[in-house]
Amino acid sequence: PLVSMKEMLNDAKDNGYAVGQFNINNLEFTQAILQAAEEEKSPVILGVSVGAGRYMGGFRFTVKMVEALMDEFNITVPVAIHLDHGPSLETCVQAIHAGFTSVMIDGSHYPLEENIELTKRVVEVAHAVGVSVEAELGRVGAQDSGVITDPDKAYAIPSECRQLVEETEVDCFAPALGSVHGPYKGEPNLGFDRMKEVMELTGVPLVLHGGTGIPTKDIQKAISLGSAKINVNTENQISATKAVREVLSSKPELYDPRKFLGPARDAIKETVIGKMREFGSSGQA
Ligand code: G3H
Ligand code: ZN
Repeated sequence: PLVSMKEMLNDAKDNGYAVGQFNINNLEFTQAILQAAEEEKSPVILGVSVGAGRYMGGFRFTVKMVEALMDEFNITVPVAIHLDHGPSLETCVQAIHAGFTSVMIDGSHYPLEENIELTKRVVEVAHAVGVSVEAELGRVGAQDSGVITDPDKAYAIPSECRQLVEETEVDCFAPALGSVHGPYKGEPNLGFDRMKEVMELTGVPLVLHGGTGIPTKDIQKAISLGSAKINVNTENQISATKAVREVLSSKPELYDPRKFLGPARDAIKETVIGKMREFGSSGQA
């Protein structure tokens, strides 16, 4: 069933595993992720960015597509459809109105007080209709910016994290602690000491953005320090595109899109299954 993230993340936090957020970009991504979740008996979060939502035909269409596939595939595991990096109250309300069961309000580029005010307003609207909310503090590095090494420049400050979570009552919280979107240049340098502090100070399930390319030992450590949601997008995009390239370069005469999108879908499914096992969410639904 389509549900909010609240229960699945609290269960994950209590039981020492993480639920994957896998971003959807089109029909094949959605099919692959839903089937992986059902086969693995894993809860799952479908992440939808503003850009991907627009690409797929809008928030409303995206919800209808997810619902239709869940029906068709007889999905029994809990599925959340979550706005990824929501930029404004308006966008969050549009997503909720379209049927999203969860939203992220990303006020991380605002000063703390403004971030808190904005997040509060989103929580008020979302909680009124049972929709869960994720907030962010500090900056997740941009693609190609490399690994962030100066903690005070970009890493979330624990006392501020406590203030934001207490004042806004968000359901889960993403403190930026050195992860980046897209592939890492070298090894990621995650701020585990701060992650521990943030976990102790806030008590809510934590979210790890930029899940692509984080070594298993760091994933395990993050989970042990309260990270109950891990976001993965780029890794699925890379495996899908690699499959397309292989098919097209070995068969230049091919023109039926199903012949290369099918293998892309298989590749996404395999990648997602690997992540669900790594995060420990397999068998938890
Ligand atoms: O919000 C989405 C994620 O943080 C995705 O990060 O593309 O590096 O896996 P990624
Ligand atoms: Zn992110």
